[in-house]
Amino acid sequence: MKNFERLQKMLKNVDIFSSLNNNSLKLLMDKMRLIVFEPGEVICKEDDKGSSMYLLDTGEISVLKKGKAGKMIEITTLKPGEVAGIMSLFEKEPRSATLKAMDRVELWEMDAKTFKRIFDNNPGFSQSILKVLSGYLRKETKIVAELRSYDEDNRLKIAVFDSKPYMEKAFNEKNRERYALKFYKPHLNSDTVSMAEGFKVICLFVNDILDAPTVEKLKNYGVEMIALRCAGFNNIDIKACGKYGISVARVPAYSPYAVAEHSVALMMALNRHISRANSRIKEGNFSLDGLVGFDMFGKTIGVIGTGKIGKCLINIMLGYGCNILAYDLYRDKTLSETRHVSYVGLDELYGSSDIITLHAPLTPESHHLIGDKEIKNMKQGVMIINTSRGGLLDTRALINGLLNGKIGSAGLDVYEEESRYFFEDHSQSVIADETLARLTTFNNVLVTSHMGFLTREALGNIAETTFMNIAEYEKGIRGKELTNGIS
Ligand code: NAI
Repeated sequence: MKNFERLQKMLKNVDIFSSLNNNSLKLLMDKMRLIVFEPGEVICKEDDKGSSMYLLDTGEISVLKKGKAGKMIEITTLKPGEVAGIMSLFEKEPRSATLKAMDRVELWEMDAKTFKRIFDNNPGFSQSILKVLSGYLRKETKIVAELRSYDEDNRLKIAVFDSKPYMEKAFNEKNRERYALKFYKPHLNSDTVSMAEGFKVICLFVNDILDAPTVEKLKNYGVEMIALRCAGFNNIDIKACGKYGISVARVPAYSPYAVAEHSVALMMALNRHISRANSRIKEGNFSLDGLVGFDMFGKTIGVIGTGKIGKCLINIMLGYGCNILAYDLYRDKTLSETRHVSYVGLDELYGSSDIITLHAPLTPESHHLIGDKEIKNMKQGVMIINTSRGGLLDTRALINGLLNGKIGSAGLDVYEEESRYFFEDHSQSVIADETLARLTTFNNVLVTSHMGFLTREALGNIAETTFMNIAEYEKGIRGKELTNGIS
């Protein structure tokens, strides 16, 4: 059934319909159709015959026009409540622009015939129309001016997918107007790949999925380089990129401090029950029962993975006066000679640590590094921190350990099945993942949404390295790219 109330409200906000009385509006609404478009789908094409108007209900629409060189240029973005194709209601001219769905779009369509009938039956209507049309003329003049300046913009155009406001801020700051950046909210995948048309360089993140057929399409659209703004690249078919001559570069490191400090934040928040204490106070409960923590001084911290992040974390914990039991496939010489740090085997680390923190990458060997057997060998009431990758920890075993009290608390910035939920707002729907839902019910578990990297400095470093990679590509400097040697 049509959502008439919402539609009526939206129509009243459109200047051309704002003067219509409720009867005329109802007549209009009865004839309107709700249509759904998936991300990347073309709603209508420039120069095609147009006989209807669109009113955007949800999602965003990219308005594109052919530029001088025949390339599609985005001139504006339509947001919910805005209209497109309004001129088709008055004249049988071809469409003046192409409309493309940027994400999942729901829009209301009205055909010209219905409109004409309403127009003929409302004498006061024509006067308000004239006013509106003169406003359009002003807007069109502005668009033409913008179009001209875009055509004259000789900067390299980069499409940035899976864009978020905090990331856009960092990228705009570091860009310093060098490149023409176009930020797109949707992920890049086989459904949205057409949005990359017209860009030589595209910038992607961890959840953009590129399989071989999608890479081939990118090649046909003229994409020459993929600038990953992350370290991992398991989501990209690198071989296919090499085959189609598309260069891929990444950001191997951005701020080990950010992730190490987030691990410590989780540790301290769990130890001193910060989240519970704060919730109590918000309800006017100032009691301290059940909030007893422990001194970090003198405690034993088991650190698995002593690379960049692991080392930063060890330095912070040494400052607290902790003893470190470290484990890595390769021992760091300086660290092994540091006071209060000992490299040990995993059995000893599990059996003697008060807190165990994971800083190793996810590989076939490290998958479910910690499961039932390992948890059984740990100290009663151990705290586990994972800011590395969800797959290192068997979540089912973790939940069992929490239920039987072996695990005293857990701080998780990553989760095995996180790609379905993390980074997005799901507050309007039910969390169908029962394991994740179960984890969030424990008051001795803290879950954050893969935000270890989320500091101003790390975001700045990510942006800077991404632009450096692009600049090197532009200058013809090769060697660091993941596709090096693949053809
Ligand atoms: P790194 O490469 O400097 O260090 C990783 C260390 O783990 C190396 O010393 C390596 O020898 C060791 N290692 C590899 N396999 C191992 C195994 N099976 N057992 C024990 N040690 C093993 O990497 P870095 O920069 O310290 O990052 C560590 C991890 O942190 C990354 O792999 C990533 O998964 C995670 N990370 C999380 C972020 C977040 O936002 N939560 C952001 C960035 C990284």
